[in-house]
Formats: sequence, structure tokens, C-alpha cells
Amino acid sequence: MRMKPSRNLLLGLCSMLALGFLYYSSNRVSLQGWGHKSLYDKQGFLLKLDGSLPLDLMYKYGNLSEGACKPGYAAAKMTAIYPKFTKLAPMFLDPNYKRYSGIGDYLPPFGVRSQEQIIDILLSATKSYGLEEELDSCKTCIIVGNGGILTNKSLGQKIDQYDVVVRLNEAPVKGFEKDVGSKTTMRITYPEGAIQKTERYEPHSLFVLSAFKALDFKWLRHMVFNQRLRSTDGFWKSVARHVPREPSNMRILNPYFIQEASFKLIGLPYNNGQMGRGNIPTLGTVAITMALHNCDEVAVAGFGYNMSTPHAPLHYYEKIKMSAIKESWTHNISKEKEFLMKLVKAGVIQDWTNGICGAGC
Ligand SMILES: *[C@@H]1O[C@H](CO)[C@@H](O)[C@H](O)[C@H]1NC(C)=O
Ligand SMILES: *[C@@H]1O[C@H](CO)[C@@H](O)[C@H](O)[C@H]1NC(C)=O
Ligand SMILES: *[C@@H]1O[C@H](CO)[C@@H](O)[C@H](O)[C@H]1NC(C)=O
Ligand SMILES: *[C@@H]1O[C@H](CO)[C@@H](O)[C@H](O)[C@H]1NC(C)=O
Repeated sequence: MRMKPSRNLLLGLCSMLALGFLYYSSNRVSLQGWGHKSLYDKQGFLLKLDGSLPLDLMYKYGNLSEGACKPGYAAAKMTAIYPKFTKLAPMFLDPNYKRYSGIGDYLPPFGVRSQEQIIDILLSATKSYGLEEELDSCKTCIIVGNGGILTNKSLGQKIDQYDVVVRLNEAPVKGFEKDVGSKTTMRITYPEGAIQKTERYEPHSLFVLSAFKALDFKWLRHMVFNQRLRSTDGFWKSVARHVPREPSNMRILNPYFIQEASFKLIGLPYNNGQMGRGNIPTLGTVAITMALHNCDEVAVAGFGYNMSTPHAPLHYYEKIKMSAIKESWTHNISKEKEFLMKLVKAGVIQDWTNGICGAGC
């Protein structure tokens, strides 16, 4: 009997807590339901974006001399607009890849499931898994897209000033140095996009595979071991048959970036974690995602299409016109652009050709 009052009190407290919790969570639910009250959009990005520097970052970077590499800048700005961002995601697969977060559960292109055996063989042949050692300290990176928007902008010198210059697929350098620069730290490609003429490979650069399907790992095995590719069944266009690079200059891009870009950053359909309609990010956006995790500063050039000029060239190196772009089954260009616009608007990345925001963000 003497316990009763306190027990009642406890019960009372409990139900008050429970009520309080219900009240709190219903509030949260309704806050999220009434989107306009949340500070964040569906993907988790701050709704109100501007290029200003948060105070703590202003303090951290304010004293650096003009042009000096700002350690951790891209990740810090990214975290300021997207609090879910965590920096840990290595550029390339290395022998510890089975411990990387997330990729073991997904099939390509979002992970490595079912490909572990061939990846182990590839990694034991390449034996190298990083950038050159001199690039271990603070590094600025630029991703050079293939857009015709690069033509006649004379950005070559600017591009070459970056510590790491990333190029995509077959985009040539020779003959276009004035506009696109001459330095290539790495070239990220998938088999159908790889340079086919061996003489066109630049001698000093990493050859990086971004695998979009299981077959792509098989293709890389042929390239690494210099084996004849007997069949090209399963590729959607012709592929390179020989890559004139030593295995030690070949890498496998961490598929985490495809997964994160698609499901988290852009918000493409999850489709049970499998490839499906409109849920594959373009290689350019995958490269930017990689850079956000691995570079101190990130810039881009040659991204974005100017749809108001259908007769302008689509790529800087060929005559195909903008109007040739077709509705794509795999990509969702407009959703992807929304994501890239957030990065530019918030100053997470710098866009030298201004094709992402165009007239305004
Ligand atoms: C920046 O410089 C000012 C004046 O020289 C100094 O007082 C301040 O501590 C410096 N801040 C940092 C982050 O180094
Ligand atoms: C680039 O400049 C060259 C030489 O001035 C000119 O012939 C060409 O039409 C220009 N290309 C574009 C896309 O503006
Ligand atoms: C791209 O996303 C938009 C908005 O979610 C959707 O309406 C459209 O159908 C998508 N396009 C493709 C190709 O999946
Ligand atoms: C797109 O093309 C139009 C017409 O030439 C031009 O006015 C506009 O500035 C271009 N936008 C960009 C981002 O280059």
C-alpha cells in the first residue's frame, strides 16, 4: 500500500512523457508534412542557399592568401548545406573495399555484390590504389565535362592550374589545349566511352573504370591482363579493345559515388537498389560526387547544355548538335541539374563555364 502513491506518480509521469512524445512527434510529422516549415528539402539540402561562408568557415579560411588551397573547403561547405554529408569514401577500390560502407549489398552499378572475385583479381594485378603520393596534401580538383560550352572560352591555362584534372571518357586533349588544357591526372571511363585509338591515350594519367554493369569488370580484366576481347555482346556500343596503360596505372572508381549521387544527392528512384528507369547518374555527376569526398576544393567546366541554342555543338570535340540529345531511359538530366545547381548556388563547387546555372540559379 505504501508503494502506491509513488507508483501512481511514476505511471503518471510515464503517460505524461508518452503524451509529450506523441505531441512532439506529431508536431514533427506535421512540420514535415507542411514542407514550407522545414529548413531542408526532400533530399536533405538546405532550402535557402547562398554563396556566403558560415562564420566558422570564414574564420578558418579568411586568412589564407588568395589562391591558396583551402583544406577541407568543399566538404565543409557541403556539410553546411547538407548535414548528412560524411567525407569518408575513398576514390578507388583497394584491398579493404569489402569494409567500405554500403557497397557490399548492392549489385553494379551501385555496389560490388557478386563481383568480389573478379575485383580481387583486378586489385591484385594493379597493386596501386591511390593518387600519386605528391597529391596527398591539400588538393584542388577540376572535373572537365565534355560540353560544347567549353569552345572558345580559352580556359586551358586555368584548368591546368588545378592539382587534379579529371577528364571523362574519350574527350580529347590534343588540338584543344587552349580551351581544355593539357594536363590529365585521371580519365574516368566506362567501356563504351573509352578511347579506342591507342595513340590517343595520354602517357601520364590514371585510367579509371567506372563500372555500370557486371560486364564492365570483365572488360577491365581483359584490359589489365592484355587479353583479346572475343565478344562485345552486352555492350551498348563498340568498346575499346586495348588500353595502353600499365596495370599499376589502372583503378576502379568506388561505386559508392554512383549510389550516393543517385539515391541520396539527386533523389532518383530507388527501385530496390537496382538499375531501373531514370536512376543512373551521368558520369560527370559521379565524378563530381567523388571529388566532393576526396578533394579540398572542387571546380567544374564544360557542364550543362544551353537548350536555347539547339544548333550549338553538344561536345567540344565533335560536330553533333545539341538538338541530338534524346530523352534518356537511364538518366534524368533535369533532376540531376537541380542537384548541380544547389552545389553551384551554395558555392560548394565553382563552375568556370557557367553552364549549370546559366542565366541564374
Ligand atoms: C587571422 O589573422 C588575424 C590577424 O593577423 C589573427 O588575429 C587571427 O587569429 C587569424 N586567424 C586564423 C584562423 O589564423
Ligand atoms: C570559335 O572560334 C572560331 C575562330 O574564331 C570560330 O570559327 C568558331 O565558329 C567559334 N566556335 C564557336 C562554337 O563559337
Ligand atoms: C525525371 O524526374 C522527374 C521528376 O521526378 C519525373 O517526372 C520524370 O519522369 C523523370 N524522368 C525520367 C527519364 O525518369
Ligand atoms: C544560351 O544561349 C543564349 C542564346 O545564344 C544566350 O543568350 C545565353 O547567354 C546562353 N546561356 C549560357 C549559359 O551560355
